[in-house]
Amino acid sequence: MTILIKTEEDIYKIRIASHLAAEVLEVIEDYIKIGISTNELNNICHTYIVEKQKAIPACLNYQGFPKSICTSVNDVICHGIPNNKKILKEGDIINIDVTIIKDGFYGDTSKMFIVGKSTTQNELLCKITQESLYLALKIIKPGIRLRMIGKTIQKFIKQYNFSIVREYCGHGIGKFFHEEPQILHYDSNDEEIILQKGMTFTIEPMINAGNRHIRIMKDGWTVKTKDKSLSAQYEHTLAVTNNGCEILSLRKEEKPFISTILINK
Ligand code: MF3
Ligand code: CO
Ligand code: CO
Repeated sequence: MTILIKTEEDIYKIRIASHLAAEVLEVIEDYIKIGISTNELNNICHTYIVEKQKAIPACLNYQGFPKSICTSVNDVICHGIPNNKKILKEGDIINIDVTIIKDGFYGDTSKMFIVGKSTTQNELLCKITQESLYLALKIIKPGIRLRMIGKTIQKFIKQYNFSIVREYCGHGIGKFFHEEPQILHYDSNDEEIILQKGMTFTIEPMINAGNRHIRIMKDGWTVKTKDKSLSAQYEHTLAVTNNGCEILSLRKEEKPFISTILINK
């Protein structure tokens, strides 16, 4: 498969889908409380997406995934399946990953929520993961090597005692959920692609407090850290513009810190 360069009309639709996905993360925030189950969170998001947004939750039935969002708590790296028995408790960290299909186009975003008060180390893990995503977004512009994304994240994470998951990566997005290219979150010298205006893709670093190794649970989906250390992830969908990128899934709360359109000189 090749990298699809999007038209303005395509980007318009990916923007709408991404805004809807971002809105779900804004709406669910108030429900992240001690005692709620991850399946209740799933049901609230599902109803909101289908009834309010008149959109499709892309995860539901995607390659057999049984729920409408992913809920990844503590040592779950990604693809956690919402479940009635998984009840949030004080200090948990949870990633909610929402992907929306609207008018035939996809938008994909995720963020961490902290349940009540957590440890300083857990709060740092979440903050550093988000910061690594922002640093990568800031370098995006036409003409740079795709490799710079992973390189930027790796250089930043190296300063902490954290590690970068290698088995999962960001991806092109548009009329399909997962398109070319793969966006690695670590540095790799086989990466030779040059960014071009009209590319749309996600950046979604997964950072572990311990080592980078993973194990997949018997359900075939849930990915956990091998050493049971905690893991954090943040994800945005972006479009490469003339001189930077537009973060298509930016939330209101992020606007004071980062502008939607990042202009690089
Ligand atoms: N939203 C995830 C991503 O960022 C993919 C989830 S696939 C699912 O690419 F089937 F687990 F939902
Ligand atoms: Co994604
Ligand atoms: Co996602």
